[in-house]
Amino acid sequence: MDHFIYRGGQLWAEDVPVAEIAEQVGTPFYLYSTATLVRHFRLFDEALAWGPHLVCYAMKAASNQAILKTLAEEGAGMDVVSGGEYARARAAGVPGERIVFSGVGKTEGEIRAALDGGIRQFNVESEPEMRAISRIATALGVEAPIALRVNPDVDAKTHAKIATGKSENKFGIPIAKARAAYAEAASLPGLKVVGIDVHIGSQLTQLEPFEQAYRKVAELTEVLRADGHEITRLDLGGGLGIPYTRSNEAPPLPTDYGAMVQRTVGHLGCEIEIEPGRLIVGNAGILVSRAIYVKEGEGRNFLILDAAMNDLLRPAMYEAHHDIVPLIEAAPGVEMAPFDVVGPVCESGDTFAKGRDLPPVKAGDLVAFRSAGAYGAVMASEYNSRPLVPEVLVRADQFSVIRARPTFDEMINRDTIPAWL
Ligand code: LLP
Repeated sequence: MDHFIYRGGQLWAEDVPVAEIAEQVGTPFYLYSTATLVRHFRLFDEALAWGPHLVCYAMKAASNQAILKTLAEEGAGMDVVSGGEYARARAAGVPGERIVFSGVGKTEGEIRAALDGGIRQFNVESEPEMRAISRIATALGVEAPIALRVNPDVDAKTHAKIATGKSENKFGIPIAKARAAYAEAASLPGLKVVGIDVHIGSQLTQLEPFEQAYRKVAELTEVLRADGHEITRLDLGGGLGIPYTRSNEAPPLPTDYGAMVQRTVGHLGCEIEIEPGRLIVGNAGILVSRAIYVKEGEGRNFLILDAAMNDLLRPAMYEAHHDIVPLIEAAPGVEMAPFDVVGPVCESGDTFAKGRDLPPVKAGDLVAFRSAGAYGAVMASEYNSRPLVPEVLVRADQFSVIRARPTFDEMINRDTIPAWL
């Protein structure tokens, strides 16, 4: 459920007509709804209310300071994967004890910064990384809380580029090697083992792969406890999918997910952490764009928008589907026609949809890409020297630009001409 709905024939974001924002901000831009963000965070929080838990928002999905602050004020923790994300989380007011640090290639500088600034736990993805954290923590005279990310070799049944829990993926320590890795962790100075971490992929539309992975984690918890390790936390990752189309079968709800977590690992008495990104922000954001031209091709019509693959990469990168809707609601019974929806970038891959049935659209009309809040703005670039797409946040009847569109001068002045030119 989201708060982008038609009322009186036009699309609203909470209590603001989206077209009004487009007039003031210009297109394209991302638009987020505070009510939807907060609602989705609370759904997860309530789904795990049966025991001690922390919902650590995976901020890679959308990392604007205003989004982070909104969630931090709800009590969210953060899952970060780089020094930049750690700094962003801290700048948004998230205390170190609510930040978990994931990622396969944490550098010495990143590890040091997190230990200096405070960290809930590192999710360690390899033995060499574990040794590096031990070395750095020992040098700083502190103890680093760690969980080892295990790779459970489970098929997440999602797009290959976003599956992470199979043995051929680069993530985590093979679960068969976990006992040996935990034994080494216990022997190293500067480390405090606090739990186990697992994350098997993104946009999962069934509970069954999660359930398989979590059962393996439950078994491993018992084995590690028998080996003498203190396992008090389980970080179960993110990955619960969202409905990208109205026609699709809806993925499981956070409540079903929470009940499954309780069923699979609830008996262990551990504190539960989860790292959802997409489900919190995906349907809390849209990308608003204006049609520049409608061009008649051979056997097809192109709808050429002012948004492009540099603004929303997902269709080009994962063949992802995003519903595209007009800001002025189509009259009931109006005839739909197929369009190839494209952007102005000089690549054929700059195609959002092929043969998409849309109500009549003409140059100048405004459209919205739904479900664009997650992995939208954060994956945008300035390719073709198109200014980085701005972001706007709505709360009830107010809106605010939370990242402004850079001017051409700002873009150009980021470059430096060497003295010899
Ligand atoms: N935790 C870890 C360790 C992750 O690697 C990820 C996502 C998450 C949590 C959050 O997963 P979520 O709840 O958002 O599914 N750019 C791709 C998605 C990449 C996901 C990467 N890892 C896309 O646009 O579909």
